Amino acid sequence: MVLKHNMTQKDDVDGWTSTMFLYNSALKKIKVKIEILQEEFRQLYSYNPIEHVSSRIKTPESIVKKLHRHGKEVSVEEMVNSLNDIAGIRIICSFTPDIYQIAEMLANQDDITVLSVKDYIEHPKENGYRSYHMIVTIPIYVATGTVQTKVEVQIRTIAMDFWASLEHKIHYKFEGNAPAHMYSELKNCAEIAAKLDEKMLALNNTIIEESAKIQPSDPSPELEQDIERLAI
Ligand code: GTP
Ligand code: MG
Repeated sequence: MVLKHNMTQKDDVDGWTSTMFLYNSALKKIKVKIEILQEEFRQLYSYNPIEHVSSRIKTPESIVKKLHRHGKEVSVEEMVNSLNDIAGIRIICSFTPDIYQIAEMLANQDDITVLSVKDYIEHPKENGYRSYHMIVTIPIYVATGTVQTKVEVQIRTIAMDFWASLEHKIHYKFEGNAPAHMYSELKNCAEIAAKLDEKMLALNNTIIEESAKIQPSDPSPELEQDIERLAI
């Protein structure tokens, strides 16, 4: 797809529609990849590292606001070049190591190119925010050729997500001017959430180790008969 400067109004509309089509298609492709990974984990290891997945396309209003905020021209071309989060996907995992495993499994796919990574787990933000971010591109094949399309992938645990939702709510409600004690409370909550992730992981590892030691007992003949009767 060719995006030109000095587009006419008509070109702009076409540009917008076909560009949004690309972002929607990119999200679909990444979601299918994640479903396949999930299915593979379920079948091969009887384990699901992903709790849930959500995705969104940035609204025209927030695209324009962000372009204004960054002092950029409002055009489809500028938006494609300068905004990395028009298509966004969020993957919520059970445990922190799952995050890195999913990130690696996505990054290793032939058609995915990782443009940048921000590891806010290894290096949490000053406010306490934790999450793993990747900007990737995925090829979308359209009649006129292949378009490498950008998607922002955020991967975090349930606890990190819980914290980020509340932080977002406070930020939004107070427009960035919440009372100071709220920010210190939030930071404290982020530390507690990180501790919880650590403890839940340790507990889960113990469960896995202990259950490996237990020999599964054979079902009793009575139980087997009942199962057979039910399954006929
Ligand atoms: P934006 O311009 O806000 O998109 O951020 P950026 O381009 O500097 O990239 P970054 O990877 O730091 O953040 C991308 C996205 O992560 C944001 O749009 C939010 O969805 C999320 N995020 C980053 N920092 C925070 C935070 O402090 N709190 C919450 N709740 N979300 C955050
Ligand atoms: Mg963003």
